Amino acid sequence: MRTYLVTGGAGFIGSNYIHYMFKKYGDDIRIINVDALTYAGNLENLKDIENKPNYCFVKANICDKEAISKIFAENDIDRVVHFAAESHVDRSIKNPEVFVQTNVLGTAVMLNCAKAAWENADGSFKEGKKFLHVSTDEVYGSLPDDENAFFYETTPYDPHSPYSASKASSDMLVKAYMDTYKFPANITNCSNNYGPYQFPEKLIPLIINNALQGKKLPVYGDGKNVRDWLYVEDHAKAIDMVQEKGKLFETYNIGGHNEKQNIEIINIILETLQEMLPDSDPRKAHINQDLITYVEDRKGHDRRYAIAPDKIKRDLGWEPETYFKEGIKKTIAWFFEHEDWMKNVTSGDYQKYYEDMYSNR
Ligand code: NAD
Ligand code: TYD
Repeated sequence: MRTYLVTGGAGFIGSNYIHYMFKKYGDDIRIINVDALTYAGNLENLKDIENKPNYCFVKANICDKEAISKIFAENDIDRVVHFAAESHVDRSIKNPEVFVQTNVLGTAVMLNCAKAAWENADGSFKEGKKFLHVSTDEVYGSLPDDENAFFYETTPYDPHSPYSASKASSDMLVKAYMDTYKFPANITNCSNNYGPYQFPEKLIPLIINNALQGKKLPVYGDGKNVRDWLYVEDHAKAIDMVQEKGKLFETYNIGGHNEKQNIEIINIILETLQEMLPDSDPRKAHINQDLITYVEDRKGHDRRYAIAPDKIKRDLGWEPETYFKEGIKKTIAWFFEHEDWMKNVTSGDYQKYYEDMYSNR
């Protein structure tokens, strides 16, 4: 049975990936999920699988060399899928250091421990071992408002935010391990994800939550910044395909072919909420464009991201499968069915975060 070590599996994409993998492979795989449970990590995301005999959770920080080496020493790990990171640009602008700590140093620890566990005496690596580093399209910087401009795997790195700079640094470390040691790895750079379990600091769940509560919908700057949105399950599928069929040492860009301005996203969410809420729901009356509030722009705000996922389509046959209209409906339906989840994650520290982040906006 193949054993996966997933880092950051209690977060948004990691928990969706774990669900996807158990749905696809059932009891043919074993997953060890290592997560420090920061504000973004939530074991409620994995409640339905927590008692599976082929799943195990280890609470540990990826910067803790001893804890990570122990996991490798006690288990014959075949695959590492490395999600754990600080992931929010706004937080990175306020507090960059923790991004360097987790995203750069934590990745160095993961690489070193995997290398030590997988290396043969002659410097080659044991058969079948693979490390997948999950990264972002934000490492490529910002594109102009030109619908023919895209990020390719060959686009030079040009990160602007502390978040993207830390992810770019971690990508460079992975590249260095591949080049220097022939360490068996791949890098994936994906566009913006949305879907179930996303923490409401990110645009889509924040707008859904605020709209349902009749709170202002904060739009940074002119609202015309463009992101390329991908339904999270399509990302999970792409990661699995890269590990199954990808060529070692290659980078694959993953994108939704779904570029939209932030203001368009907000309007689609408002329309979809109107469509989906029954007339008897009292929240329906206040969900309209009057909630939209233009606020001070994000510092260094990247204008446009757009991935050309040509390589992963050509070489591995992956394509985004979920149309945005369908994905946003599924996402909103999930939030309707999980109101307690939203209440739990937005109680306590979230209130303070929200006041700090939005009080001057
Ligand atoms: P998230 O913030 O929802 O989850 C991150 C998880 O990592 C949490 O469970 C958290 O507890 C854990 N974590 C953080 N620091 C840790 C540490 N030091 N040790 C152990 N665990 C730690 O993030 P996400 O949106 O699920 O993103 C996952 C990965 O995908 C990240 O590497 C991110 O850069 C990348 N990515 C995200 C997006 C997106 O749109 N969200 C797009 C492309 C790539
Ligand atoms: P976000 O979800 O934070 O993802 P990223 O910055 O990694 O792309 O933001 C997506 C876009 O939405 C980005 O252009 C910033 C904008 N945004 C707002 O306009 N208002 C908000 O309250 C948030 C959180 C984001």
